[in-house]
Amino acid sequence: MRKASYLIIIIVVMTELLACQQVQKPELKGEGPLAVTVVRGTTTPEYHAPAETWRVSHGQALNRGDFTQRECVLCHNPETGCNQCHKYVGTPRISVPEASLYWVSLNNK
Ligand code: HEC
Ligand code: HEC
Repeated sequence: MRKASYLIIIIVVMTELLACQQVQKPELKGEGPLAVTVVRGTTTPEYHAPAETWRVSHGQALNRGDFTQRECVLCHNPETGCNQCHKYVGTPRISVPEASLYWVSLNNK
């Protein structure tokens, strides 16, 4: 009897642990509201490689002035390509006024 209730507790805890692992994080080619999306057919610039490094180093590259945010938003919608991840990691919001010229969805808010 006692063993059985321990077993149930273990099962409940395991189920919750599994559920926790399914929590969304920003992910390229992921699904759901936090997915980092890039328009299909867009080529990847050489300076993005390797992606793991770029993901961490792009902030410094921009702060150094190697690139401007205006260049980035030519391919990236700031909302789906930058801010969903920035919100998640707690990095400042990206806002490039010109982006609303070519990312029509930015005007519909
Ligand atoms: C997959 C997650 C992710 C995506 C997508 C992303 N960033 Fe970042 N960004 C980060 C992280 C993490 C940092 C902080 C890195 C660090 O500590 O240097 C950062 C830092 C930055 C910084 C420096 C901020 C500061 O205060 O020093 C800039 C500027 C920046 N990102 C611009 C962009 C732009 C523009 C885009 C879209 C084209 C973008 N990022 C997309 C994760 C992301
Ligand atoms: C020519 C189009 C283009 C430009 C310009 C561009 N990107 Fe990208 N970027 C892409 C594509 C395409 C991907 C997806 C790569 C893949 O599928 O592996 C990507 C991926 C990323 C990622 C990785 C997201 C992740 O989840 O790992 C970050 C971060 C990023 N770009 C930031 C930037 C920043 C910052 C700039 C400006 C300095 C920029 N990009 C300029 C096309 C571009």
